[in-house]
Amino acid sequence: MSRNPVTVPALQRKKDAGERITMLTCYDATFARLMDETDIDLLLVGDSLGMVIQGHETTLPVTLDEAVYHTRAVARGSRCTHIVGDLPFLTYQASPEQAIMSAGRLLKEGGAASIKLEGGIEIAETVRRCSQAGIPTMGHIGLTPQSVHQMGGFKVQGRDEEQAEKILQDAIALEEAGAFAVVLEGIPEELGNRITKQIAIPTIGIGAGRFTDGQVLVIYDLLGLDMSFKPRFVRRYAEMGKMVIEAAQAYCDDVRGRGFPNADEVFRKTG
Ligand code: KIV
Repeated sequence: MSRNPVTVPALQRKKDAGERITMLTCYDATFARLMDETDIDLLLVGDSLGMVIQGHETTLPVTLDEAVYHTRAVARGSRCTHIVGDLPFLTYQASPEQAIMSAGRLLKEGGAASIKLEGGIEIAETVRRCSQAGIPTMGHIGLTPQSVHQMGGFKVQGRDEEQAEKILQDAIALEEAGAFAVVLEGIPEELGNRITKQIAIPTIGIGAGRFTDGQVLVIYDLLGLDMSFKPRFVRRYAEMGKMVIEAAQAYCDDVRGRGFPNADEVFRKTG
């Protein structure tokens, strides 16, 4: 499919027109090429790669070099999708200067069109500085996986009024600081709706209910690649974990039974 990548102003126009925004994670060139055959708006090279690609329990071990590596692979595979690079843990929290340099690498070396970072009011000045440096910056609030130890696990946030109010204020602070969009993760639907109505920039939800301006999922979850992981907010559009096992087992059976390769699958001296 040939189309132009969705720009930051185009995303805002989508919100203004009441059009839903679509985002999926992506970590390599093969998947990026496949995503180009869809009309998805955004590909996020999420630090979730630490869990689904690298097999860690959390996103914390991901390094900036690894994020740049995967972002570059996605950028190589994709011609028509806006790529969002995700800043890993401790590559932006120390200072706005550190954030600008890290984000700059995702754009310059990785080929991302924008970046995402976690945090609200406490990170607003950093968002302002990145935006002033010409780096479109997406916020991420609610359940912020890089704070997993502080939250005591991957737990829904904003269930009580005080917490909900804090998350709303985070969203407002990010908007005022110049963020072009904000991911709302793991919050009650009512809060997702309240924030979406309150701020002018697009909200993109994951486990944040039906009323956000857009939705994001980890593509491996949507494809059912991890058969043991099925949180309530994930819808599986395929059972590819099962398909991969069946295909690999069929191959093993064929090789052992001398069914692969067959006569058409071998090179000959001529022809
Ligand atoms: O890293 C990631 O994949 C994310 C999404 C879940 C929003 O941050």
